[in-house]
Amino acid sequence: MNGRLEGKSALITGSARGIGRAFAEAYAREGATVAIADIDIKKATETARDIGQRAYPVKMDVTDQSSIEAAIHAVDDNTGGIDILINNAAIFDLAPIVDITRPSFEKLFAINVGGSLFTMQSAARSMIVRGRGGKIINMASQAGRRGEALVAVYCATKAAIISFTQSAGLDLIKFGINVNAIAPGVVDGEHWDGVDALFAKYENRPLGEKKKMVGAAVSFGRMGTAQDLVGMAVFLASQEADYIVGQTYNVDGGNWTT
Ligand SMILES: NC(=O)c1ccc[n+]([C@@H]2O[C@H](COP(=O)([O-])OP(=O)(O)OC[C@H]3O[C@@H](n4cnc5c(N)ncnc54)[C@H](O)[C@@H]3O)[C@@H](O)[C@H]2O)c1
Repeated sequence: MNGRLEGKSALITGSARGIGRAFAEAYAREGATVAIADIDIKKATETARDIGQRAYPVKMDVTDQSSIEAAIHAVDDNTGGIDILINNAAIFDLAPIVDITRPSFEKLFAINVGGSLFTMQSAARSMIVRGRGGKIINMASQAGRRGEALVAVYCATKAAIISFTQSAGLDLIKFGINVNAIAPGVVDGEHWDGVDALFAKYENRPLGEKKKMVGAAVSFGRMGTAQDLVGMAVFLASQEADYIVGQTYNVDGGNWTT
């Protein structure tokens, strides 16, 4: 039986590990060829090797315009053109408002927002030239739905992603390019190990306590896993989502309901 993404060419930023890696594995299972694009090329190479012949590593720094363009060209060269982009690479930081530093603010906006916008732009240019439309999925977050006392900058970057998804969705649908987003809640993995350590520092808690708290607070009864997000990522990349434009879908066990 054919997969739901048979013959498609995807690029997933930040897919050496975590959620992006789970998406890459799922896309390969569904018949797509996937560029494992990450600043950590060693890990991207290992991940691509683990996934097998449908995956290949691409070194990419989403804050560097020439690196973005080289990654999109690599996909064009390897597969004849990009059909699906997931803007997944992002970093996290936290601090009370009075302690936010300009370098932290600039780095988060450069990776989470600028990286997604300019990768989306470069992929869209390639999709437009090819004339076959495409699918772009941006990774937002429940953090983009409302502010959090210690997480002002990260929350603002994810709110910007929701807004860019709307604008780009409206602008690019005339080319047959669907832009939508996924807003996860709290997803266990290496990313959240780092988040937990930062909360431990700022809220004076033992390591692991914040994770337990946020997991217990999810209506579903636990933190999410990367696998919990895979169904939405495959659906939004498939033909079944052709009429969906500029939306952000919560996949968060019930944490946010609007
Ligand atoms: N884990 C969660 O609880 C959670 C919740 C909501 C939203 N999200 C979002 O989901 C996405 C994936 O999260 P994750 O938990 O898998 O994160 P992660 O930290 O495990 O993975 C991020 C990946 O991005 C890569 N990366 C970092 N900077 C980069 C750059 N400049 N260029 C290219 N790649 C770069 C890293 O090397 C890493 O492989 C992110 O957008 C994140 O904000 C995660």
